[in-house]
Amino acid sequence: MDARTAQYLSDFIKHDSDILDELRKENRSRNDIQPMVEIEVGKLLVFLIKLTKAKKVLELGTSNGYSAIWMAKALEDTGGTITTIDNHERISAEAVKNFEKASARNISFIKGKVEEILPELISKKEKFDIIFQDSGKYLYPLMLENTVKLCKKGGVIIADDSLFRVIETVRSGLGDYTHDYNRAVFSHKKLFSTIIPIGHGLTLSLKK
Ligand SMILES: C[S@@+](CC[C@H](N)C(=O)[O-])C[C@H]1O[C@@H](n2cnc3c(N)ncnc32)[C@H](O)[C@@H]1O
Repeated sequence: MDARTAQYLSDFIKHDSDILDELRKENRSRNDIQPMVEIEVGKLLVFLIKLTKAKKVLELGTSNGYSAIWMAKALEDTGGTITTIDNHERISAEAVKNFEKASARNISFIKGKVEEILPELISKKEKFDIIFQDSGKYLYPLMLENTVKLCKKGGVIIADDSLFRVIETVRSGLGDYTHDYNRAVFSHKKLFSTIIPIGHGLTLSLKK
């Protein structure tokens, strides 16, 4: 996004809570943590939760909790809950502390590998209204069928960073994974997909 657009948006798109402001400032000055979603992506996640009146959200890739807190606050309005998964020992311990700080009681954190936890959720016949894929990029194509199984009919699978392929500063290998993912969701019989060029790209797939 060009600087003028970013400046213009910043007058409108703001955090709803102090903890999100703090995390954004803190994460930007750290180099030991993967990037969180852009603020306009956070706001769109909230919009989609409110629009669909989502009750159950699954997030893949918690980091220290920024996007989960955005979504948990929106789910307070719908009476919903979010389950979020990450396998990073130290960063996810920070997430748990941040959830407490945010008084977000509707977040369940699962520490573990996405590729091991998703089959467990499938075997328990869990279903989600919204699934937010923001974990390792290699997992996007690899976990697609599992996320389709876990998504309710009429639910939405959202993938962040889906325009990595066309962002010059991003390692090309990562862009290959998100490109494979985009190709798979656009040709998938059970999905209706589109890409929104906000943040680093957001692919939305509606389960038919
Ligand atoms: C881009 S960060 C998530 C950012 C977070 N959604 C936010 O916006 O605040 C990606 C996270 O995925 C996690 N991750 C990567 N591979 C994983 C795996 N196989 N299982 C679980 N978590 C994984 C990393 O530890 C990292 O914290």
